Amino acid sequence: MNDRIRSEAFRSKVKPAEAAAALISNGDTLGTSGFTGAGYPKSVPMALADRVTAEREAGRELKVRLVTGASTGPQCDGVLAKAHGVSYRSPFNTDAGMRNNINSGETEYFDNHLGVVAPRAVQGDYGDFDFAVVEAVAITEDGGIVPSSSVGNSQTFLDVAKKVIIEVNTWQSPELEGMHDIFRGNVSGLPSRDIIPITAADQRIGETWLKVDPSKVAAVVMSEESDRNAPFAAPDQNAKAIAGYLLDFFEHEVKKGRMPKSLLPLQSGVGNVANAVLEGLNEGPFENLMGYSEVIQDGMLKMLENGRMKIASATSFSLSPEAAKEINDRMSFFRQKIILRQQDVSNNPEVIRRLGCIAMNGMIEADIYGNVNSTRVMGTRMMNGIGGSGDFARNSFLSIFLSTSTAKDGKISAIVPFAAHIDHIMQDSQIIVTEQGIADMRGLGPVQRAEQVIRNCSHPTYRPLLEDYLARAKKSSYGLHTPHLLNEALSWHQRFVETGTMLPS
Ligand code: COA
Repeated sequence: MNDRIRSEAFRSKVKPAEAAAALISNGDTLGTSGFTGAGYPKSVPMALADRVTAEREAGRELKVRLVTGASTGPQCDGVLAKAHGVSYRSPFNTDAGMRNNINSGETEYFDNHLGVVAPRAVQGDYGDFDFAVVEAVAITEDGGIVPSSSVGNSQTFLDVAKKVIIEVNTWQSPELEGMHDIFRGNVSGLPSRDIIPITAADQRIGETWLKVDPSKVAAVVMSEESDRNAPFAAPDQNAKAIAGYLLDFFEHEVKKGRMPKSLLPLQSGVGNVANAVLEGLNEGPFENLMGYSEVIQDGMLKMLENGRMKIASATSFSLSPEAAKEINDRMSFFRQKIILRQQDVSNNPEVIRRLGCIAMNGMIEADIYGNVNSTRVMGTRMMNGIGGSGDFARNSFLSIFLSTSTAKDGKISAIVPFAAHIDHIMQDSQIIVTEQGIADMRGLGPVQRAEQVIRNCSHPTYRPLLEDYLARAKKSSYGLHTPHLLNEALSWHQRFVETGTMLPS
């Protein structure tokens, strides 16, 4: 333990997870570490979930409000959802059990732009934080908290919470120490926020540890639970086709002189399709790439390993179990090539705009005009959340959305007359790519956008229906600038809800 907790003062606070969880009361707001299944606390939420069940059996209620960096994993969202111990959740979740509680109405959920959670926590949107619960790989001699496989909002939660619980996880490689970059400037407080002085993705601007007021630390807990590390689906024909169109597009842009040969800093979203694009880039002609993203996935790791990518800056890992093992085995190599930052820095509009990132994100659906729904199936059922897609889509040099043209065995078209929920307005989506092709909508008006999206991206089964919709809308819409048939615009979604398919009988 001494090598992990190098401060005597912090060693004296070590308690069992059960004792730490016992400090938490019904209605408390917890701000925890954790982002995309990496670096979240595990032992304390597991002990808390057991307490929730025990309290219920004793006829008492114990529910907490849970605010994180982004998604956690089975030992946090998973156990707490199963125990029905969360009354409120923000800003991002991928756990199936928590998703069920959210969609049943049991758990109030506000998905939020990941880059704005820290400033909004400081300005009080989430109320008071009773506890920060933060996973660390070590505590330094001077009481610095060394984060584990993500940074997320941990520094802000440590700053604003009344009390702090640190979980020191010995499963995490101690060699993560040195990989993080914690900016000490004022990113969130007003009125005098600092300039974030990042002018290149590989620039370090801070320190390698989080600071905490030792008098707030209520407990230090030891843990050896592993991160979630879910496997990615191997890229199928559709994912490869999407990657192929995108690579051709990049080559064309380079030829036209609109991008350098090393492209621009790449942001890649969560999910299988986004990961497949990175795999495609790994076989493409581009060298000396840079990553400025929020997660580092398997595809980016491979490029760092073979030298195709020089450096990757993010706030977290999102790795398969094999890739997690690879990185743990070769941490001293990867520590030179990876920078993990706070998420209000990794996802900061100022930096994304300055660097001119290429944003590549998955989507649920887009409408013919290129408005994008990233979050709500049939407009009502939450999938994951907006994540960082909005932070990057609005502020990047190029904003690209990716999806197969259909979902659920063709019963759902990913290109619809009108998106049933809009996360990204048409001004924030320039390029849409499906396995059918690519729509380059830069600078086009709505009708021209619609013609491109329908012709290039929709599935042949749905294309004639979309063409027919647009043709009729062009004749009888109230306005002809962005033509719609208002009583039909959401009829495809309604048909799916009623019949299980968007296709007319
Ligand atoms: N209607 C209903 N379900 C749909 C759908 C649609 N139009 N499009 C996709 N789905 C379902 C798929 O069927 C699949 O369901 P399953 O898990 O039951 O198999 C699931 O969504 C994932 O789809 P997949 O095709 O594998 O794509 P993905 O893994 O790339 O995920 C998103 C797509 C939209 C869910 C994902 O990109 C996301 O959560 N985005 C929002 C957050 C974000 O963009 N963050 C970026 C910054 S990191």
